[in-house]
Amino acid sequence: MTNRTLTQSLHKNQFPAHFKWGVSVAAYQIEGAHNSDGKGQSIWDVFANQKGNIHLNQHGNIACDFYNQYQQDIQLLKQLNIPNFRFSIAWSRILPNGIGDVNEAGIAYYNQLIDYCIAQKIEPWLTLYHWDLPYALEKKGGWTNREVISWFSQFVSLCATRFGNRVKHWMVMNEPVVFTGAGYFLGIHAPGRRGMDNFLPAIHHTTLAIAEGGRILKKILPPDAQVGTTFSCSYIQPYRNLPRDQKAANRVDALLNRLFIEPLLGLGYPDKELPILKNIKKYMQPGDEHKMVFDFDFIGIQNYTREVVKNAWFTPYINASLIAAPKRKVATTAMRWEIYPEAIYKMIEKFSAYTNIKKLYITENGAAFADEIKNGEINDIERIKYFETHIAQVLKATQDGLKIDGYFVWTLTDNFEWAEGYHPRFGLIHVDFDTQKRTIKNSGKWFTDFLS
Ligand code: BGC
Repeated sequence: MTNRTLTQSLHKNQFPAHFKWGVSVAAYQIEGAHNSDGKGQSIWDVFANQKGNIHLNQHGNIACDFYNQYQQDIQLLKQLNIPNFRFSIAWSRILPNGIGDVNEAGIAYYNQLIDYCIAQKIEPWLTLYHWDLPYALEKKGGWTNREVISWFSQFVSLCATRFGNRVKHWMVMNEPVVFTGAGYFLGIHAPGRRGMDNFLPAIHHTTLAIAEGGRILKKILPPDAQVGTTFSCSYIQPYRNLPRDQKAANRVDALLNRLFIEPLLGLGYPDKELPILKNIKKYMQPGDEHKMVFDFDFIGIQNYTREVVKNAWFTPYINASLIAAPKRKVATTAMRWEIYPEAIYKMIEKFSAYTNIKKLYITENGAAFADEIKNGEINDIERIKYFETHIAQVLKATQDGLKIDGYFVWTLTDNFEWAEGYHPRFGLIHVDFDTQKRTIKNSGKWFTDFLS
């Protein structure tokens, strides 16, 4: 038994044969080539290059240079034995101004990437929007401008028309609550806007754009295409066994877990638990209640941790605060997120309970640790343990008859972790960002054994 195999008991054969195994990445976090071959700027190009926004003023201008080195990385993916690859399209690479003129070089790049995956027997799964809005559109108000729905529709139509004959699984968006919350309320992600006057319209236009994106894909793509979208989710628990903490937990649950899925399912915004959401009405137009609804073929959920919540009168709007994991003295990852494997089971259980959800995949789960190369090896035992304990919970979910049909690791290579820069390493493959050298970590080898 090697160090990397803590237990030999877990194997993919314990899962149903149709269960999908994959790995997820996102354009801005890996591609680099920020101004190559006619690409336009995105809000992340601008935000990350402004001093003070990102840890150590790092940016994604080069990142993992995936744009130039994708063949090598797909070869590594193949070596790891991972059959499904979820990646996103950089909107401003194919539409440099967000709308209007198409950049054929950008289209050619994604065509080559898709074709290369297929030639290597790796199935491409496309995310259309993983947070990198074209900067030209941000100048017109970005997600706060209702016109964004028609801008986004042009982008979705273009992707469906150009890539639709070869890609079967589509995801309209990645984690809307994170990009609207961090980018339009807290100002810690691009485009760096703050406050309810930005957040509430961004929420509503995003909800409408997700539903409209789903309708457009269904209209253009072949009938067997699977159209979905993805949401972040955290298991929320009250700090103390007190009614006020329970209510605080319900408010945080409404914000972090229910805000986008429920209007899409026709249940409306969860404004009973979170009354501030009633102000979204200001941005609603007649008929929006129906336009917000779309029946997706699948939903992707992305879970990393749980949050423990207490009542906090002085926190505006939500009257709740999170008790940070280090304060609770629990085991954490390099993101200071609690390692709590049951959370993934709880989230599968929660989303399974929505009867209108047809199919559920875990489209992201993973962990950052301070990996060290010793004698050319990265023995990331904590990450292996993280995968073992989380995948064991997913297995339990399948055995308990919950609706779950796939699991994607976040992520293939170490990459640009948004406001945190390059410090948190999430990859199955280590990247030396000075030399772009890749080294498969022991967790990558563990995953290969698990899939073999
Ligand atoms: C996002 C990724 C991110 C990961 C780890 C998710 O929120 O989709 O882009 O890198 O979690 O933070």
